Parts: sequence; structure tokens; C-alpha cells
Amino acid sequence: MVIHDARFLTSNSRADLCPAPTVPEYAFIGRSNVGKSSLINMLTGRNGLAKTSSSPGKTQLINHFSINDKWYLVDLPGYGYAKVSKTSRAEWAKMINYYLRNRANLMCVCVLIDSRHPPQAADLEFMEKLGEEGIPFVMIFTKTDKQSTAQTKALVTDYLKKMSEIWDELPRYFQTSAETGLGRDEVLAFISEINKQ
Ligand code: GTP
Ligand code: MG
Repeated sequence: MVIHDARFLTSNSRADLCPAPTVPEYAFIGRSNVGKSSLINMLTGRNGLAKTSSSPGKTQLINHFSINDKWYLVDLPGYGYAKVSKTSRAEWAKMINYYLRNRANLMCVCVLIDSRHPPQAADLEFMEKLGEEGIPFVMIFTKTDKQSTAQTKALVTDYLKKMSEIWDELPRYFQTSAETGLGRDEVLAFISEINKQ
């Protein structure tokens, strides 16, 4: 897919204030610092479109980007950051749960997982919840450039093994790097496929 236009639209704390749900939408979620905003920049080929930071907790709101005037990419705030207060955590859960349950045009949630780490409870629980609510999702293993291909392969294999203890059918998954562009074609082809349905 050629991306000829990628524009920031809005930042919102409430799903009912997000742009009108007139086109298909894909949301990126995962632990703080996993690389959600960086992946959006990599996919769109626009550095700085989504704000990134080396310290966790950069993205705080629901950020909509319009792609080719045909679909939306959504950058969401991360979860699982230890320094966040209980109140902020509860606010995050309220905002995100409302968004996930009520966004009519949400085609798929992309759950980003750091490819260097073994399965974390926060991610497993989040995906289980998506499954329970019947919200379609895929997994994206990020930051693959930070280790060897063999290491990524071993970690992804272990992760899928863990998932198979919980899931009868494993979700679709991708491996990406915001540094090298690995996985860009695959993720965009997947979005393109759904957009056509
Ligand atoms: P929050 O908005 O805080 O939840 O974080 P985020 O998930 O949006 O992460 P962000 O994209 O801001 O990236 C966090 C840090 O990881 C930044 O320093 C990025 O440069 C770095 N990073 C993200 N993706 C990659 C990647 O694929 N490879 C490498 N080497 N670094 C990455
Ligand atoms: Mg971010």
C-alpha cells in the first residue's frame, strides 16, 4: 500500500469525541514504551507524526491519524508503567475500555509486545479481555532490531506456546522494527486486506 497522505486529526480523552466513525480504524496498544508511536511513524513513513519518547508514558490520550483519507490509525496511551498512580491507572482503564467497547468502526486492535521479553501478565490479561469481549486483535512483536533474528524467533516461539495454553486459536502476529522497517509491508497488507472487506 502506498501512503500518500498521513495527517494528525485529534487527541481525545473520550471515545464519543473522537472523529466521526466513517472509515475503518486500527488502534495500537501495549505497554508503555513498547513502541506504539514509533511504529505509527514507521508505517506511515512520517517521522514525528506520532510523538515518541525514551521515557514511558508519553502518549496520554486517544490520538487519531487519517491515512489516505480512507482509514484511521489510532495511537493509544500505554499500560503497565510502574510509576503511574492508582487513580491514573483507573482513568486509563475507563477511557480505554469505553473506547474499545464503543468505537463502531474499530476493525482490529494491534497489541504491541516487546520481542525481547518473555510473556508479561499485563499483556496476557489484556489480550484475554479482548477475547472475552470479542474484540478482534493481532499481536505485533516490536523492536526486533535490538537482538538477533534467532533470539527473536526463540522468544516469539515461546510466547506463542504460552498463548496456546490460553487460546484454542492463536491470533495472527507480526514482527516489526521501527528502525529497519521490518514488517511494514506485512502490517500494511493486512490493513489493506481488511479495508477491502
Ligand atoms: P508510550 O506512548 O509512552 O506508551 O510509549 P510508546 O509505546 O508509544 O513508545 P515510543 O514509540 O514512544 O518508543 C519508546 C522508545 O523506544 C523510544 O526511545 C523509541 O525510539 C524506542 N523504539 C520504539 N520502537 C523501536 C524499535 O523498533 N527499535 C528500536 N531500536 N527502538 C525503538
Ligand atoms: Mg506513545
